Amino acid sequence: MTRRRHTAPAMRPARDTTPSPAIAPELRGFADDVLAGLSGNPKRLSSKYFYDDRGSRLFERIMRLPSYYPTRVEAAMLRRHAKDLLDALDTGGSPIEMLELGSGDGRKTLALCRAWLKAGAELVYRPMDISAQALEHLGARMARQLPALTVHPLCGDYFQTWPIPSARRRQVALFLGSNIGNFTDTEAARFLRRVRVHLRVGDSLLLGLDLRKDPHTVLAAYDDPEGVTAAFNLNLLRRLNRELGMDFDLKRFRHYASYCPLQGVARSFLVSQVRQTVRSHLLDHAFEFGAGEFIYTEQSQKYERTGVEALAQGSGFEVKAWFEDPALPYALVVCRATG
Ligand SMILES: C[S@@+](CC[C@H](N)C(=O)[O-])C[C@H]1O[C@@H](n2cnc3c(N)ncnc32)[C@H](O)[C@@H]1O
Repeated sequence: MTRRRHTAPAMRPARDTTPSPAIAPELRGFADDVLAGLSGNPKRLSSKYFYDDRGSRLFERIMRLPSYYPTRVEAAMLRRHAKDLLDALDTGGSPIEMLELGSGDGRKTLALCRAWLKAGAELVYRPMDISAQALEHLGARMARQLPALTVHPLCGDYFQTWPIPSARRRQVALFLGSNIGNFTDTEAARFLRRVRVHLRVGDSLLLGLDLRKDPHTVLAAYDDPEGVTAAFNLNLLRRLNRELGMDFDLKRFRHYASYCPLQGVARSFLVSQVRQTVRSHLLDHAFEFGAGEFIYTEQSQKYERTGVEALAQGSGFEVKAWFEDPALPYALVVCRATG
């Protein structure tokens, strides 16, 4: 009797990163990034892909965790300094167009909007986010809790959805939650320069920034005992399975978080627990993982004031006001667009 050998269908090796023609046009950018990221050494995936509907819900849970201090501290600071922040914008009484980059569910911004309206500011709020789910939650919350506020959500990438500025309004861009820390310094400078291009001289950028502090406190924020951050990180693989037809077995990967006090950077990884091959018929690729090999999924930079001032200056801004929580170091920074 002759035996037939079953061989797996041939797939292109990871080195060949030309996109497969089977990919739908709206997934092309995502697919290209994943293909390049998983073909590199070390393997990487961008943290911007965390936020599908489930990812956004998990992030909302992270923000409520006792160990995730940035949300709690920033929310309290926004309430405490709402009036000081408005003064620092120095709008000369002009109406404000508030553009929030990566607004998420907008929970913290609500208190700020409420305080600014109460102080007599004329305000239009434009939350911008790639997550439709986050914007839906935000819209419902604002309508329920602050019906007096005009809200125009913009769903998509920041720079693809940025509206044409109105001549009579001062633009105030918000980038909260220390989101800028997800970029390296070079990427952050490039990002701020792109923001600056959309602003006019005298417009402002309000940054929420996590500052350097006890390494134990930082690490605990990215490695909670409840396992919500682990589920959030692993959800990225679930998304790749669903949207790019991959066959990641989530049980074979484990969340790992680290914090380097020398660089002030928290990092998250997904570590392969065994030697394995992950395939995607849609991408027409197979990816090899060694036991212990990782995918680098997120960085969160913790800042020092001098570094932030240099970053702002190098990107067409000057720091106009700096508010700091000394107990759990965190800063709200008003940057003015310069000529
Ligand atoms: C870490 S969450 C922070 C949410 C909120 N700013 C806060 O402080 O709680 C990041 C948010 O940015 C959004 N986001 C990430 N990359 C984006 C992009 N390129 N364009 C628009 N939104 C983006 C995500 O969907 C997510 O809601």
